Amino acid sequence: MGLGDCRYQLIDFGMGRKLESLAGYVIDRPSPAAVDKIPREPSRWKNADAKYDAEQCVWQQRQPWPEGLLVDCGGFQMPVRPTPYGHIGLFPEQHDNWRWLGSPSSESSNRQSALNLFGYTGASTVALARAGYAVAHVDAAKPNVQAARQAAMQNQLGDAPIRYLVDDAAKFAAREIRRQRQYQTILLDPPAYGHSPKGKVWRLERDLWPLLNDCLQLFGENSSRLLVTGHTAEVGQQEVVQFLRQTAFLKQFQRSSRLIIESGRSQLTDEGDRSLDAGFFVRVQTP
Ligand SMILES: C[S@@+](CC[C@H](N)C(=O)[O-])C[C@H]1O[C@@H](n2cnc3c(N)ncnc32)[C@H](O)[C@@H]1O
Repeated sequence: MGLGDCRYQLIDFGMGRKLESLAGYVIDRPSPAAVDKIPREPSRWKNADAKYDAEQCVWQQRQPWPEGLLVDCGGFQMPVRPTPYGHIGLFPEQHDNWRWLGSPSSESSNRQSALNLFGYTGASTVALARAGYAVAHVDAAKPNVQAARQAAMQNQLGDAPIRYLVDDAAKFAAREIRRQRQYQTILLDPPAYGHSPKGKVWRLERDLWPLLNDCLQLFGENSSRLLVTGHTAEVGQQEVVQFLRQTAFLKQFQRSSRLIIESGRSQLTDEGDRSLDAGFFVRVQTP
């Protein structure tokens, strides 16, 4: 990630945990992807400034979490803070996606619209708004939506055309179809398991496919971009690409050399140049 004082760096990982530097403030927290790995530099872990205890759901802080801590995300900064679930208000593994989202999808002089479903921290919304998109930012949890609004304000995007919606992603997409709304960029980063604001259960392996179908209906006739990411063993990039290739929406472009489908694993790289898996990504750009 970017250079300077606000840098994020994965320092080390292993034994189901990762050691990270947030602008120099060092944290130690769980990482399921590191379960069968061995830490490279065990001595570095003793000096962590904060450590998340997943059993007690508490952060143990040797040094207080710095007030107003910011992390550089490549052109914008995100506030990072300890959350009760061991999150930090940022998913640094999304770095490549922010760069992709931040490049406008067409030369059109009209303002492009983007839909960020499961938007959480708002980092992707900030990347899109900085690139001139009008963004609909949807998340089921009110505090997450408030945090996203705060992050946009801290990036001087308080007046940007961003709609903040506390809503169920699937319900919102269905409603947007009825309203005949169109988007040029749609991104989804759904959890394996979640809840709508009214408590309806979301299960990735069951609910992703109808939602993807709805998202495809929200694209207009112009060039469109879709980003799907996920963090569970049940669904991977192959299933998502296979599903998309069978849809009428993508079939019409299959022969075009300008249809771009990129997919793979998101990764974080530690100081020893080792990669830590951070789930799948699928990025689609239609002609
Ligand atoms: C994996 S996080 C998304 C992280 C996001 N990409 C980011 O970089 O900040 C999943 C988010 O989905 C939200 N969520 C869970 N179930 C939902 C639902 N049914 N509708 C909308 N949002 C939901 C959660 O509140 C959480 O903020």
